[in-house]
Amino acid sequence: MSVKKIVVIPGDGIGTEITDTAQRVLDTVAKKSNLNLEFQNAFAGGAAIDVYGVPLPEETLSAVRACDAVLLGAVGGPKWDKVSPDIRPEKAILGLRKALGLYANLRPIRVSEVLTDYSPLKNEIVAGVDVLIVRELTGGIYFGDKCESETVNGVEQAWDREIYTVPEITRIVRVACEAAAKRRGQVTSVDKANVLASSRLWRRVVDQAVKEYAGIEVSHMYVDNCAMQMVLAPKKFDVIVTSNLFGDILSDEAAVITGSIGMLPSASIGDGPSLYEPIHGSAPDIAGQGLANPIGTILSAAMLLRFSLNEEAAATRIEQAVDQVLAQGYRTADLYRDGLTKVSTEEMGRLVEKYI
Ligand code: IPM
Ligand code: MG
Repeated sequence: MSVKKIVVIPGDGIGTEITDTAQRVLDTVAKKSNLNLEFQNAFAGGAAIDVYGVPLPEETLSAVRACDAVLLGAVGGPKWDKVSPDIRPEKAILGLRKALGLYANLRPIRVSEVLTDYSPLKNEIVAGVDVLIVRELTGGIYFGDKCESETVNGVEQAWDREIYTVPEITRIVRVACEAAAKRRGQVTSVDKANVLASSRLWRRVVDQAVKEYAGIEVSHMYVDNCAMQMVLAPKKFDVIVTSNLFGDILSDEAAVITGSIGMLPSASIGDGPSLYEPIHGSAPDIAGQGLANPIGTILSAAMLLRFSLNEEAAATRIEQAVDQVLAQGYRTADLYRDGLTKVSTEEMGRLVEKYI
């Protein structure tokens, strides 16, 4: 296999520990599967503000543009809470999405059998949940015009604009349909078409776009109802496709019902290099203590192998190793309970490597 370049962006907080661990897992699977991976580190978020004065420096942008895939930890922390809004650490994430054209965010939400008990919901409601959230990632209110402050008739106001174009909606619906074709064939499009004009366009374009896909069943659901169904009957969902803002909110809700947000990976894909990161944040309160769960990042590395490098067998090897380590009762602090074996971030990674 030719050399594949992976840019690793640890970011802030627990970012360094979890990406170091995942990188070692990638190294191990590469040796066993005869892959040639080359790693390069780059700064983003608060770490970049400290070094460059900006959250997303030019060096990082040119590195990610020239690589095969990006593995990211997490950004942000109280240290940078007071910086001006235009250089907040989160700007690095939004900037990376825009720069790489990462228009589709895939968040698979699965409740693994050994972890069903960790859910805040009743066992029978969560056992077997397997939802894929496909979130539009480079449009909508996140990227529409905004005004931080203006005064109209003596009254201060601020605003953000929700805007979607037909091509933006069409391409995200295609991603959802293609994913659904490999799953249970059901797409739920989530919007607020009873109130928002942009949602009414969304709904119309969804109905048009799905005609290209035979065998995919589409339904529409209002976002408020979806938020409710997610805790009442999450098993009903196969693929959810939705806008940037609704996807942000629903994916956190869906993640938390698994009871183990530290385990969930994500992929952000576009036409160039894709970016992989755990769903959780930078957890500055536990940084540097070996308490972080690296599995979300390790499983993100598996998604990287599958989607960016087309190495399905290597990806499955990682996923199966993770399952085995959990089945043996090893847990990081977040999921530790009496009778199980508590391990550090690094030890968890070493165990996964051992089972690969
Ligand atoms: C996410 C995060 C980001 C978002 C933040 C950090 C900008 O919450 O990836 O879901 O809102 O998209
Ligand atoms: Mg979010």
